[in-house]
Amino acid sequence: MDKLVLSQDGSHTIISERFGVSYHSKFGSMQETQTVFIDAGLDYIVSRGYREINILEMGFGTGLNALMTYQSIKGISINYHTIEAYPIAENQYSQLNYPSVLSLTEKQSKDFIRMHEAQSGDNISISDHFEFTKHIIKIENFKTTKKFDIIYYDAFAPTSQEELWTPELMAKLYDMCNPGAVLVTYCAKGSFKRALRSAGFTVEALDGPEGKREMTRGKVL
Ligand SMILES: C[S@@+](CC[C@H](N)C(=O)[O-])C[C@H]1O[C@@H](n2cnc3c(N)ncnc32)[C@H](O)[C@@H]1O
Repeated sequence: MDKLVLSQDGSHTIISERFGVSYHSKFGSMQETQTVFIDAGLDYIVSRGYREINILEMGFGTGLNALMTYQSIKGISINYHTIEAYPIAENQYSQLNYPSVLSLTEKQSKDFIRMHEAQSGDNISISDHFEFTKHIIKIENFKTTKKFDIIYYDAFAPTSQEELWTPELMAKLYDMCNPGAVLVTYCAKGSFKRALRSAGFTVEALDGPEGKREMTRGKVL
């Protein structure tokens, strides 16, 4: 059974039985999402003047990245696509403490459940400025003609899923990017950074979230 546990900033994470790892940093799920995906991804792209942003997330998981992205919308519109091969069960997502730790409004809490309840391929208008589509499929089999401005690459670490950090997969993601796009991830492993470079990304090492020296941002020029 997957286990719901508290991370050090008081927000929940899940320990995956299938993969033997946790969905987020033990130092804090919220602080990891904020640093890696919101600050280095969304806020960076907004600072470059983007107002209509296409995001692709690898690994919907608990939905925390999607939720904090939704909560961060001010003066921008987001089209959010997320890929997940093994969705978590209702008795887990309904227990996550994100509505309270993120001080969600009643509407935002309901919208979070709507994201979890979404069926594969449904395009849902969560609000006037947040379109949401979930793809229940392995990323290895995911195909699209869409192009993205940000990729949130939130796969389990190479130590548990080495096959998700390969040059081939990075090349496939590169082809899904618009010029100027970024791929952000908590992973800073050398072989992964080489895989990004070989796919065509320019690689930057940034300060990581609490408990992690570095994270990575790949850019498409
Ligand atoms: C680190 S967790 C994602 C955490 C998530 N972003 C969140 O905010 O909770 C990695 C996710 O990738 C999913 N996953 C594992 N292998 C996959 C694959 N081959 N294709 C798509 N999703 C996969 C897992 O089920 C898990 O939900």
